[in-house]
Amino acid sequence: MRRLTRRDFIRASALGMGAVVVSTGLTGCGGSSSNNNNDDGRRVAFHHGVASGDPQTQGVILWTRVTPEDGDTAPVPVSWEVASDADFTQLVNEDSAEVRQAYDYTLKVDVRGLEPGKTYYYRFHAAGVTSPVGVTRTLPEGNVDQVTFAVLSCSNYPAGFFHVYAEAAKEEQLDAVLHLGDYLYEYATDGYDGDNAEEMGRALPNNNDLEMIKLEDYRRRYALYRTDADLQALHAKTPFIAVWDDHEIANDAWMEGAENHDSTEGDYLMRKQYALQAYFEWMPIRPFDDNDREIIYRSFHYGDLVSLHMLDTRIIGRDQQLSYTDFLTETGIDAEAFTAAATDPERHLLGTTQLNWLSGALATSSATWQVLGQQVLMGRMLMPAEMLQGLLAPGPELVALIGELTTLKGRYLQGDPTLTEEEVARLTTVLPYNLDAWDGYMAEREILLRTAKDLSKNLVVLAGDTHNAWASHLTVGSGEDKQSVGVELATASVSSPGLESYLQLPAEAVPQAEQAITLLVDDLQYLNASQRGYLRVTFTAEKARADWRFVSTVKSSDYQVDEARGHSMTVQAGSPALTQAD
Ligand SMILES: [Fe+2]
Repeated sequence: MRRLTRRDFIRASALGMGAVVVSTGLTGCGGSSSNNNNDDGRRVAFHHGVASGDPQTQGVILWTRVTPEDGDTAPVPVSWEVASDADFTQLVNEDSAEVRQAYDYTLKVDVRGLEPGKTYYYRFHAAGVTSPVGVTRTLPEGNVDQVTFAVLSCSNYPAGFFHVYAEAAKEEQLDAVLHLGDYLYEYATDGYDGDNAEEMGRALPNNNDLEMIKLEDYRRRYALYRTDADLQALHAKTPFIAVWDDHEIANDAWMEGAENHDSTEGDYLMRKQYALQAYFEWMPIRPFDDNDREIIYRSFHYGDLVSLHMLDTRIIGRDQQLSYTDFLTETGIDAEAFTAAATDPERHLLGTTQLNWLSGALATSSATWQVLGQQVLMGRMLMPAEMLQGLLAPGPELVALIGELTTLKGRYLQGDPTLTEEEVARLTTVLPYNLDAWDGYMAEREILLRTAKDLSKNLVVLAGDTHNAWASHLTVGSGEDKQSVGVELATASVSSPGLESYLQLPAEAVPQAEQAITLLVDDLQYLNASQRGYLRVTFTAEKARADWRFVSTVKSSDYQVDEARGHSMTVQAGSPALTQAD
């Protein structure tokens, strides 16, 4: 007799969010020996590891995928166990369900009835095969001393090895991994820094080596990434709290389109539905709203210490990006027209509904730290306009220009009275460098930052997207009225190339360029423009500490952690200013 399951319900299938099985306790016959489902003659494997995510105080999402290896497309029975010990002697949940072709044979279990702030072990069984063991952790309650996150983004499989995931998996104290998007990339093998993919053994497979457009393309790409041992190790060790960025759909996505989508690729809305369906099938994310899979903004409360608010700056509310080419005149960029467009109160990045939700979430949380986990840089990345024009068309003269402007800025900051009006204007005529970031949506940023300020919150914004490590003061107002209201900590990428390749800077010019950009951009406090890595952030009642860690290379299987270039900064509660830490 095969007892299929006691499921509370399976939902969301019609919406293509994958199936989520809610499981509340011990419903098996006790002991793992009863869980083998060995009697149906199926041949299966767990090629894609296990994962957990979206922890709550009494529950967590568990994930796996069962690969049928017998050509049979029928559903496969799967059981699982959750225990409070690594030997699975103290079972707290045991149940079963089926995986189906309709959800790409993925399984998500919403385990309930757990205890706050505890570590749990879990594994799955199907047709006599047992998955690897995963470890996860529920949210703590009440008085919490310390919370530690690893913050990661931008992993492009053909661009390099996932050493950064491997290093994050060695962290011993993580409460969660915050993945800020670009978990995968939509391109063909050679579409984005894939020149060495073949020799690294990381070329895309024949059935998935073109740009992702259809459901099957997205599913196969997730399946490929999840065969990576380093990514599997991190998933198995720590719960993920993830949001998508653009490449989970297509480059520079916004509400109704994307830079990397045109009509020859079919209907964008259809493509987006496929992308989001695969996302919900393959990522250990809890569907937030049964009726709308586009809503992924959500909060996680680590007792009285940290409220983490995950945002969507891509799909739900973003107006199309501005482009400097629309503001070009014969004498350069029309800064006045551009500024009017970028500060238009009708331009949205989060959209009004999400912004109102966030304002409410900030107002009602009394946690010491309010942390925003989101995709694109929020800091004001205002650069001298002539440098921006150099950045838009990088070449050798850029290095000379940066040097010249840096010298001027040094004199300016020292109050040099011999600076001419023209020289001052070269420094103070500034424009943002990335219009895909919050800089292209200034009015909404101002509302958000003023809300945090008015509520007197300790605001820490986390960002991904750029492939570089940054830290900035988040400011409102200008001139004498300028005030810092929070800080931004941005992570480098896992494997996608950074500014060093975009600017075509020779390696020896990188440190100087980093220093120069940090000097020229007023709110910027730190930049690593050339290395792949991740960010660890540790919160206590007194301070938040950021540790950026980098690997020496992602282009070969041999690598080291580049200890010398690791960087640490802190911010004290009650004082939104970054200082260097040891
Ligand atoms: Fe990226």
